[in-house]
Amino acid sequence: MIIGIDLGTTNSLVSVFGENGPELIPNSLGSYLTPSAVFFDKSGNSIVGESAKNHLVTNGDSSTSKFKRLMGTNQLTNIARKNMRPEDLSALVLRSLKSDAEAYLGCAVEKAVISVPAYFNDIQRKATVAAAEIAGLSVERLINEPTAAALAYGLHDKDGEDTFLVVDLGGGTFDVSILEMFSGVMEVRSSAGDAFLGGEDFTDRIVEYFCEKMDLVSDKMLAEDLSRLRLVADRAKIMLCDEMTANVSYRNGEEEVALSISRDKLESISKDLINRTKIPLQRAISDAGLTASEIDRIVLVGGATRMILVRNLITRLFKRFPEHELDPDTVVALGAAVQAGLISRNAALEDMVMTDVCPFTLGYETSRQTLGHEQFEHGIFSPLIERNTTIPVSRNHIVTAMQKGQKEIDIRVFQGEAPYVRDNIKIGSYKISLPYNMKEHEEVDIRFTYDSSGVLEVISTVVSTGKESKLIIEGNPGTLTGKEIEKRFKELEKIKVHPRDEAQNEALIARISAAYENALGERRSAISSLLSEFEHALASFDKRRIEEVRSVVEERLQYLEASNAFD
Ligand SMILES: Nc1ncnc2c1ncn2[C@@H]1O[C@H](COP(=O)(O)OP(=O)(O)OP(=O)(O)O)[C@@H](O)[C@H]1O
Ligand SMILES: [Mg+2]
Repeated sequence: MIIGIDLGTTNSLVSVFGENGPELIPNSLGSYLTPSAVFFDKSGNSIVGESAKNHLVTNGDSSTSKFKRLMGTNQLTNIARKNMRPEDLSALVLRSLKSDAEAYLGCAVEKAVISVPAYFNDIQRKATVAAAEIAGLSVERLINEPTAAALAYGLHDKDGEDTFLVVDLGGGTFDVSILEMFSGVMEVRSSAGDAFLGGEDFTDRIVEYFCEKMDLVSDKMLAEDLSRLRLVADRAKIMLCDEMTANVSYRNGEEEVALSISRDKLESISKDLINRTKIPLQRAISDAGLTASEIDRIVLVGGATRMILVRNLITRLFKRFPEHELDPDTVVALGAAVQAGLISRNAALEDMVMTDVCPFTLGYETSRQTLGHEQFEHGIFSPLIERNTTIPVSRNHIVTAMQKGQKEIDIRVFQGEAPYVRDNIKIGSYKISLPYNMKEHEEVDIRFTYDSSGVLEVISTVVSTGKESKLIIEGNPGTLTGKEIEKRFKELEKIKVHPRDEAQNEALIARISAAYENALGERRSAISSLLSEFEHALASFDKRRIEEVRSVVEERLQYLEASNAFD
């Protein structure tokens, strides 16, 4: 059994290709969306999801989120006195999704298709594969998020013959893809994106705006207070989808402050973010050799495309309304399940074919002799696989040694669109030893193979001897070796998961505590009595009573969370 996973910056989902097509799998709280947040309780057990998200407000030292943005780096997060890599934190989320799938399917799960932003680079992709391995999952395929969304749409409308534009603005990443679809065959024509642009950046802007109003400096705030302000800002951002102005309140010390923001204000404080979305949109269209009017359908994916200013931008640029037949929150996970179905050759998908592209250029560093001089200019980028080439793809170049007696050639691999390597991203490097008695122009064949998951392999062969060497990215910042993965797998195995049957109760307590933090006066005491009512029920150990009280408390809490002191 292969599961599909959408490992998001803010929310993650798990799915499977069942008898009736792709299905979403609920978590232990009965919800399809699991916030990508991790919390460690006092006994060191891990909790992932809604509850961990609320703990960000009450236990900042023991909880964390948004670590997808750190994937591919060596940045450690200190949490509950442990130093964790982004792969470890992602692995905890993956492990939680794996166990939700196992509970739902009633069997062990070891294989997964995981979606990644199309614009994730090679290091970020390898980090995602490592995270899965640490969680005890083997990755059957990485699928680009907009491609997954298109697969879900394609299955939905099998006989369509259209050119699609998929715009995916999630919590932390922005991807654009153009696809052509005809009788079950889906071809990605181009992809472009920004791996560091998402809905969370708009929330940050609102946080800064609110800070300014309260004379606060976000960098100097306590982690817990900042998380609480973020929750308030996020709520305001979501309210602006239905209302012209959002009114929220924030407890600043011993004072409850009324905060408001209008749609126009949000637009003016995030102009540069909106402008940044235009760049990948334009590039994807021109790389596909199309004009805006040649696009038949526009599909919006990712929670942040619910923002009115994003919808307005798309409508203005393309002079038509985008569609959202499928839920933008779940469509990537559904597509990952379709890909899992394709890999396991599910009969229902027999006539479906999908091809994808490599969204960026991959190449290596070379030097060239400057005209008329005996000097060399270094740092030149030589592309080997050009962006938007259909994958899998394998390409080679022959390079020659520059000098007689040269002992080795340094191969440095880069990704990017700039003519000089200094402006591109370094993927890795290695040295090829040349034969002792080498000829004047010893040749080396360099081959790049980019597989269907978007993972790069580089092999070089000394032509005269046939000696092969492989680029091993070990020691490169942000990449774990096989040994390290094994070690972290064992470490993670030691971390116990908070008992599943207590998940709902634990989550509610975390939510009440977070709401309590942000209230004062009467609202605070109302929230406090909810807490004691629920704790009383828990102490009774009477399952039915607990369930009854839980649903009453949830309802009252929802009302209290939505209201504020200034309504
Ligand atoms: N109604 C809404 N209005 C505005 N923003 C919203 C709304 N609903 C969700 N969002 C925002 O969407 C983002 C989350 O979207 P989504 O769940 O698609 O992201 P993700 O898959 O976790 O991230 P990524 O794909 O970038 O890794 C958050 O920033 C959230 O605040
Ligand atoms: Mg997403």
